[in-house]
Amino acid sequence: MCGIVAYVGQQDAAPIIIKGLKRLEYRGYDSAGVALQNQAGLSVFKKKGKVAALEAELAGRDLHATIGMGHTRWATHGEPNDVNAHPHYSFHRKLAIIHNGIIENYATIKQALLKKGHSFQSETDTEVLGQFIEDIWENTPDASLEDAVRLALREVVGAYAIVVMSEADPTQLIAARKGSPLVIGVGNGEYFLASDATPIVEYTKDVIYLNDYEVAVITNDELRVTTLDNTLTTPYVHKIELELEAIEKGGYDHFMLKEIFEQPRSIADSMRGRVLADAGTIQLGGLRDYMDQLARSERIIILGCGTSWHAGLVAEYLFEELARIPVEVEYASEFRYRNPIINEGDIVIAISQSGETADTLAAIELAKSKGATIFGVCNVVGSSIARATDAGAYTHAGPEIGVASTKAFTAQVTVLTIMAIATAHRKGTITDALFRQLLVELEGIPDKVAKVLESAQKIRDIAYIFTYARNFIYLGRGMNFPVALEGALKLKEISYIHAEGYPAAEMKHGPIALIDEDMPVVVIATKDGSYEKVVSNIQEVKARKGRVIAITTEGDTNLPDMVDFTIEIPKVHDVLMPLISVVPLQLLAYDIAVMRGRNVDQPRNLAKSVTVE
Ligand code: G6P
Repeated sequence: MCGIVAYVGQQDAAPIIIKGLKRLEYRGYDSAGVALQNQAGLSVFKKKGKVAALEAELAGRDLHATIGMGHTRWATHGEPNDVNAHPHYSFHRKLAIIHNGIIENYATIKQALLKKGHSFQSETDTEVLGQFIEDIWENTPDASLEDAVRLALREVVGAYAIVVMSEADPTQLIAARKGSPLVIGVGNGEYFLASDATPIVEYTKDVIYLNDYEVAVITNDELRVTTLDNTLTTPYVHKIELELEAIEKGGYDHFMLKEIFEQPRSIADSMRGRVLADAGTIQLGGLRDYMDQLARSERIIILGCGTSWHAGLVAEYLFEELARIPVEVEYASEFRYRNPIINEGDIVIAISQSGETADTLAAIELAKSKGATIFGVCNVVGSSIARATDAGAYTHAGPEIGVASTKAFTAQVTVLTIMAIATAHRKGTITDALFRQLLVELEGIPDKVAKVLESAQKIRDIAYIFTYARNFIYLGRGMNFPVALEGALKLKEISYIHAEGYPAAEMKHGPIALIDEDMPVVVIATKDGSYEKVVSNIQEVKARKGRVIAITTEGDTNLPDMVDFTIEIPKVHDVLMPLISVVPLQLLAYDIAVMRGRNVDQPRNLAKSVTVE
């Protein structure tokens, strides 16, 4: 969702900004723009559509400038068009602003400005904020632009990451954040600003994560960070480990395909140094001091959105089955607006790939205010959720660029599995023998995922047959029920085919009415505790002429005769099955979407990182 890039230094700013905007395309957006400052003054260019459309708009212009900023907008206030795109000039055009987030009290501020004779070009809350800053700047004796930014932001309710440029001080960028991420890259005589590190990594590995309520004033040779009440702070420079190859396609047609194929490595990375089968131990550094508390907990509440919520549902089975701790899995967006009951002894686990999802962040703050201990399971190091939680474990899946989450899901499930096994072992709810067996089996998962990936061509052939479909049903039981939900979500996200995931037995209570010869039904029918029951559910579908694609366990000779297509996956212990069974569903969704000509990595209307509620 919305992306920010800015640059100040000695180099040509425009190409750096445009390239940076392309790196941020994965976040999801519907218009783009840049502001550049040179002898001609402060110029703004913006365009509805992709960054390529903006590039076409810029072609042939003199863009020479060593300071500038760019933005990709995911529409909230007002439709995606050229006018609503950022940057926005202020009323007297003394400044330009870009903004991620939502200014909740923008209507009140707008009313006050209208009364003063202001008028507005766009429908955005961002233009209101820009005009508000300029108005304070013009009407507060001796106030610098930096002071005006600070004064304005003290009045603002909502979330923001902003960058402001002005003609009055053509060498300076002013940036501020609350609730929306902003990373500053520290170069040699130059600084970069971005919503995440991906546009920065090819120039420098030294970054500063701006904190909430901080304002940064940046020129090519100076960075000064203060709080909203003007107290100087000392920013901490982190070394990022991100490598450029991790954010490039590396020969694959799409990031999503690359990320699906990266899973043997990403799952291994999630386990590295944590699962030590030879030594018969688990090491979870980030949770070391909290493991007793987790083992003693009377209830676990899991929070997340989208795919992360599905990982939470898998964790519910894991913690209940292995550690005998009751678990509730909550949509963060619902939890935050209830008056949830959190008792002493409860643990909250927040799951988030990006670590920036607004609803999850708000749910964490609510749980915190009720005294909960909160663990984070995040992928992005240094993200807002990682910093807002008491402790946690990073998933170490590496950057996920495809909007539809794949390797982040399996990494989340891996980490949650490790947590559940470690908790169960500490509590004594599993035997030593099972503990050791699970560690050995976990270490074998990357090879088994690689084995599933060998079926890619077979899955592509099946996908081809179902490219026509308008609906899909996904069924699974037990731990494969959340996998069915995840398979359906993948398909609808990227192919725009309507798909529903159901617990297989629940089909009789409604979805069975939809089944006819045109309805493809994907059933996860692996040899586990519910195999026989799932086979009965398949019979019910076949009796109504539904077309069944079954995910089966290697060597199952029964199902191929009963269903239309089978995709075999290796046998693993029941509690580890989701790590394997989700992979063919990711490939199926990918192939169908590609065959339907969809923009797989940037599906319509979706954002990778949902920083507004
Ligand atoms: C968006 C993404 C999903 C993701 C969800 C939660 O909807 O498109 O892929 O699962 O947000 O994101 P998070 O970063 O918190 O896991």
